[in-house]
Formats: sequence, structure tokens, C-alpha cells
Amino acid sequence: MLEHKDDFHGSDLMRIEELYGINKDEIVSFSANVNPLGISPLLKKTVAEEIDCISSYPDREYRELKQVIAGYLNTSEEKIIPGNGSTELISMIIDIKKPGKTLIIGPTYSEYEREVSLSGGKSYYYQLREKSDFKLDMEDLNDNLRNDVDMLIICNPNNPTSTVINRSDLRTIMDICKERDIFVMVDETYIEFVHDRERTEGIPLTDYYNNLFIIRGVSKFFAAPGLRLGYAVTGNRDLIREVGKRMNPWTINSLAEAAGKVMFKDRDYIEETVKLIEKERKYVAERLSAMSATIKTYEPSANFILFRIDSESVNADTLFDRCIMQKMMIRNCCTFPFLDNRYVRICFMKHEDNVRLLDCIEREING
Ligand SMILES: Cc1ncc(COP(=O)(O)O)c(C=O)c1O
Repeated sequence: MLEHKDDFHGSDLMRIEELYGINKDEIVSFSANVNPLGISPLLKKTVAEEIDCISSYPDREYRELKQVIAGYLNTSEEKIIPGNGSTELISMIIDIKKPGKTLIIGPTYSEYEREVSLSGGKSYYYQLREKSDFKLDMEDLNDNLRNDVDMLIICNPNNPTSTVINRSDLRTIMDICKERDIFVMVDETYIEFVHDRERTEGIPLTDYYNNLFIIRGVSKFFAAPGLRLGYAVTGNRDLIREVGKRMNPWTINSLAEAAGKVMFKDRDYIEETVKLIEKERKYVAERLSAMSATIKTYEPSANFILFRIDSESVNADTLFDRCIMQKMMIRNCCTFPFLDNRYVRICFMKHEDNVRLLDCIEREING
């Protein structure tokens, strides 16, 4: 077995290939949280047909792209800021706000902490408790949101716990933050996978709170991480102007611009994805929780599930090795704050792949 000194991000297939000698193209990644349908036929066709667009600069203002995104979100185009993946926008907003003290609800995606530290600030975690199944305790959060906090960062639904905060709780958090002058960044990278997302997403709240900045992207739901297309939504005009001043011109390339104009209108693909994920989420969650008394699952809301293994013979390291030998890559969660090598995250892939992974886990767990 290899020493797991650090973790593998879902995109680290090259490293896996080198370390394990497995052809990366044969690995099914249950770790990248990317839609298993891959890019839609419509998107493939568009990108192929529009390839000549790379010989021109994209629209510097991305007017049409903003209109299409606004239509998809049912909001106004003035509130949309396109970016080079959500990563650029996370980095940009933290760099602009330069929060001295940031509260991050975690365990969560590590990039927020890194960006806060790069901007010279300090981050602190508000810990989601295992004993509450990593669900947010609103009263307790309220007590921790003191006036000296400059920024609150929420990943909703949260990576890796797959827990979600509904809009009415988000509204309560926004009221508290407004009163205490705390800026709120919500990363909704996985929101489209949530059941009944129209009632969960925070976009409508941008009409009422100018301290809210919501981040989204196409990497996961639209299976296009290589396109590097993300967007932010905010009702704060000063902030939109500030981002506009700092953003490099043409940060989204012409091909991503062309792709963005069609993908958000691809209703068939969107519906098929939602249907597939709902079905597989139920199947994987039910099978995993019934598998063994040594497995504890946490109710998933996104396209992935977190579970804990309480066994003397199996942990996330050994399970990772066993699965990768079968060309399936899972996420060992030991590098997330507050988690250790009992925790594993897997995303929902096509049914036959999910069956194969669960069979493998079952064999390993039940000996
Ligand atoms: C919660 C979360 N936000 C943002 C990102 C990065 O997204 P993008 O590819 O849009 O930069 C990831 C990638 O894993 C993520 O898990």
C-alpha cells in the first residue's frame, strides 16, 4: 500500500497513473464530482461548429453570455459577472474584500482558506458537527457570527458533506450578517444537483442583500471543468464595478463564450442530469447505509455522498487502494479539516459504475 501523505484531487488522474501504473483513461472518477453524462451532444456540436471563433476576441463585455446566464437563473443580466471558472471569482472577491477575519463553515472546500490566507487575512472554521450529521445549527452559528467577522463563506450544498442550507435559513443568515456588517460569499457550484433547486438557491436573495456574492460554474453540472467558465451573481453595483476594473480583459475565451451561450439553454440535458442524479443518489445512499453497521452515511443533497467507516480492518486509505486497483477512484477525506481517514466521499456516476463501486466496497467491508 502507498503512503497517503496527501490526497488526490479528482483531477489528479495523471498522478494516479504514475503511482499505480493504471491507464488514466480507464479510471472511473468517483472523486471529481462531475456529471457522469459528460458534455451534451448539443455542446459538442456547438464547440465543433464554432471553432473558428478562436480567431477573434470574445466580446469584452460578454453581453450575450450574461443575457443567457440571466435567463437561466431568472434574474437580471446586470447582476452577472462571468469569470474563468468559479476559482477566478472566489479569488477575485476575496482579494477585493481583503477580509481580516473570515468565518468558513466547514469541513469544506480548501480553496477558500488558501485564498483568504493569500490575501493576508485569517480564517476560522465554524465546525459542522458529526453528531448533528454535519447539518447546520442556526442558533449556534448566530452565536459565532460576532461583529468582528468580516466575511462568512458558505458552500451550499457543501463539499464534502453534501448537506444543504435551505433558502429560508440562508435568508436568516443574511439578516444577521446584514445587521453585523458581514459580507457573505456563497459557493453554489453544486446547487443544480439539489432536489427542488428553485426553492433552495440563493439567487433571489441578491435582490435584497447587497452584502451577498453567489458563485457558480459549469465544471460539475455541465461536465465541463476544462472549459473554465464560471459566474458570480450579486446585486451590489459597486462591487460589480470593482470586479470589472480588476478583471483581465477577455478572461473567458471565445470558445467558452460560445459554449456558454448554448449550454444553459440545453433543457433536455439539464432534465436528464437532474433525473439521473436523483435516482442514483437514492440508490447509492440506500445501499451504502444498509451495507454494514460499520458504515455511517450522511444524507446527501448534491451529486455526492459522504460516509464514515468504523472498522478496525478498513479505512479510507485501504479502501482507496482497493478501489483504484479496480480502476475506480474515490475521495479519501482525511485532508479536510475535522475529518480523518475514516471518511470517504463518492460522487454518483452511471448506474452500472455505481453498482460496480458498491460491490467493491461491500466486498472490502464485509470481508
Ligand atoms: C465547492 C467547489 N467550488 C469550486 C470549485 C472549482 O470550480 P471551477 O472549476 O468552476 O473553478 C470546486 C472544485 O472542485 C468545488 O468543489
